[in-house]
Amino acid sequence: MSAPVTYSSDSIVTIERHILEEQKTYPEATGVLTSLLYDIALVGKYIASRISRAGLVDILGATAAINVQGEVVMRLDELADETIIRLNQHTGRLAVMASEEHPDIIPIPEQYPTGKYVLLFDPLDGSSNIDVNAPVGTIFSIYRRISEEGPGTLSDCLQPGKNMVAGGYILFGTSTMLVYTSGNGTHGFTLDPTLGEFLLSHPNIQIPSKPKYYSVNQGYDIYWSEGVRKFTEYLQGKDGQSKPLSSRYIGSLVGDFHRTLLAGGIFYYPADKKDPKRPTGKLRLLYEAAPLAFVMAQAGGYASDGTQDILEIVPHDLHQRVPLFIGNRELVEKAEEFIRTYDT
Ligand code: AHG
Ligand code: MN
Ligand code: MN
Repeated sequence: MSAPVTYSSDSIVTIERHILEEQKTYPEATGVLTSLLYDIALVGKYIASRISRAGLVDILGATAAINVQGEVVMRLDELADETIIRLNQHTGRLAVMASEEHPDIIPIPEQYPTGKYVLLFDPLDGSSNIDVNAPVGTIFSIYRRISEEGPGTLSDCLQPGKNMVAGGYILFGTSTMLVYTSGNGTHGFTLDPTLGEFLLSHPNIQIPSKPKYYSVNQGYDIYWSEGVRKFTEYLQGKDGQSKPLSSRYIGSLVGDFHRTLLAGGIFYYPADKKDPKRPTGKLRLLYEAAPLAFVMAQAGGYASDGTQDILEIVPHDLHQRVPLFIGNRELVEKAEEFIRTYDT
């Protein structure tokens, strides 16, 4: 990995300029990935403009649909999903897409050319928070296709996170931010709505070495394993050895992840016995855990399913769920240690 590009503090760097500078560090780059990342930034601007009016126009609330996850589809889920597909399907940059909101892969329509990349995404993460004006986000991951040519395939989508070319998220919060990595550091951009530009606000993010918060839905601790319960007590200082961490939980993965990345600590959604149909917990590997694991790894942190690095897991299903422990490496490894000690 070459040294990340650095900028003087007084320069205004748009995401377009940053991506172009990044592209220069890859001599073999053809510019297609650069254009694809521009497309993602455009998606962020478009959805941000719609969300900021969510309270005014009728895109709040639920649709009549239930998605493959068995969850009620919110209007904003659908709008974000349609936006991403519409802005990307004709560009000739993608071989195939897959979305949380679609049971199967999303082929590129015949009338459009196919390209060499694969785009997997959670169009709107934290849907349950839309109507209460809490942060929501979009999570994306980009791979090179494995198949040679023609329509992309399911196996193009089922790649381990370590193959990822770029990954990140757009956070629609008090401000709209786009955080991504293409393997050369993790960088954050804040949308200046007056300019309509994402400006570099957090170059080369590194998770603070001193953890500040732990983040988990403790409402479900009766469903956890002994190891997870003991780990949580450790974080709360109940073992008498460590100072307690403060607790924060928004219920939007992107919001909880972003705070963990910038403040330090750990977010976890463990395997639970809440729903026998999903013994490995709620979060999905392909478009939630893996892209955030790549972002966190590039920021000096680590992500595990409690036993192994998330980025090493080879998916077998588009919507497979994994337990997720993500944040400071020392805390994630501590979780693995408690799980090894008490649960195996
Ligand atoms: P999505 O809205 O894409 O379905 O994701 C919701 C996820 C994630 O954002 C969050 O971490 C988790 O659901 C919260 O689940 P609980 O309400 O069970 O804590
Ligand atoms: Mn989600
Ligand atoms: Mn979602």
